Amino acid sequence: MKGDTRVRTSTWPVVRMRRLRTTAGIRSLVRQTDVTVNHLVQPIFVRSGTGVREPVGAMPGVYQLSVDEALGETERIVEAGVRALMVFGIPDEKDPQGSMAWADHAPVQRYLKAVRDRFPEVTLIADVCLCEYTDHGHCGILTPEGAVDNDRTLEALARAAVSLAAAGAHLVAPSAMMDGQVAGIRQALDEGGLSAVPIMAYSAKFASAFYGPFREAARSAPRFGDRRGYQMDPPNAREALREIEIDIAEGADIVMVKPALAYLDVIRMAREAFKVPLAAYNVSGEYSMVKAAAAQGWIDERLAVMEILTGIVRAGADIVISYHAADFARWSREVG
Ligand code: PBG
Repeated sequence: MKGDTRVRTSTWPVVRMRRLRTTAGIRSLVRQTDVTVNHLVQPIFVRSGTGVREPVGAMPGVYQLSVDEALGETERIVEAGVRALMVFGIPDEKDPQGSMAWADHAPVQRYLKAVRDRFPEVTLIADVCLCEYTDHGHCGILTPEGAVDNDRTLEALARAAVSLAAAGAHLVAPSAMMDGQVAGIRQALDEGGLSAVPIMAYSAKFASAFYGPFREAARSAPRFGDRRGYQMDPPNAREALREIEIDIAEGADIVMVKPALAYLDVIRMAREAFKVPLAAYNVSGEYSMVKAAAAQGWIDERLAVMEILTGIVRAGADIVISYHAADFARWSREVG
């Protein structure tokens, strides 16, 4: 019939996919991926002083906290339901070697001890790197020419890892992207009587623009140059699998892909290729983008965060480190 645009579904079989989307109850029954707080890690930035709660401009809701304030924040995070923290330190003094990274009286070490006393249910993961501690802001010790000296850096990372584990970190997480760092740290932990402390290796850590806000939070931007000589080149997925393979061979207990959102394919590949637990870091710039758009009223923060964390877990991450972890925990409680 001319002009009749009616579609007659009786002429071919329409598969009724929408049936399982009709109610919230059915949708939740058939949901493939559930993000739970058990798998989330909240980062925290610890600095010196008392009563200090310094906002990080590019990360609304994130603060540099003195030890006392960090303990208060820890209580709120635990109340929200998150039980694991990734701890970063901001020292008062920086030097070329980053020696405050292994100072037993430094803010992070004091914080770790205090949390072990006051919050025995909390799992503490200590980031192990030198960039927050070196005056030049690179993740390792420099040669006279200004290049990062891989093998001299290994010893410093090992000292930092031992100091952090001895102070109370349950896990140490080397993030400097030096070759051999996992083996060096494993050996030092074992020799230091800390063989029970697992290593969560930042194995596939890409040289990313999305770390920008973190460098303000941790005051760790490099004074010159960039990190492309040690962090990975973003286009390289196969190389990420090699990095992970090498870290597992060196003794990594958990491996990580970082950042998360532009690297979901790498997360999926790593999930399929390896059997060890896999972490993904939903990094600072990924947080700031959501915060900035939400502040403008352009996206719904809550829905966006749920979708992002779900996507990272669906891609294959067992553990997600996210600045939104405690918020997510609060929101999921409200929803019930
Ligand atoms: C330390 C470190 C960085 C991050 C985690 N550990 C910064 C960097 O490599 O520049 C980034 C975390 C984030 O952006 O949220 N090397």
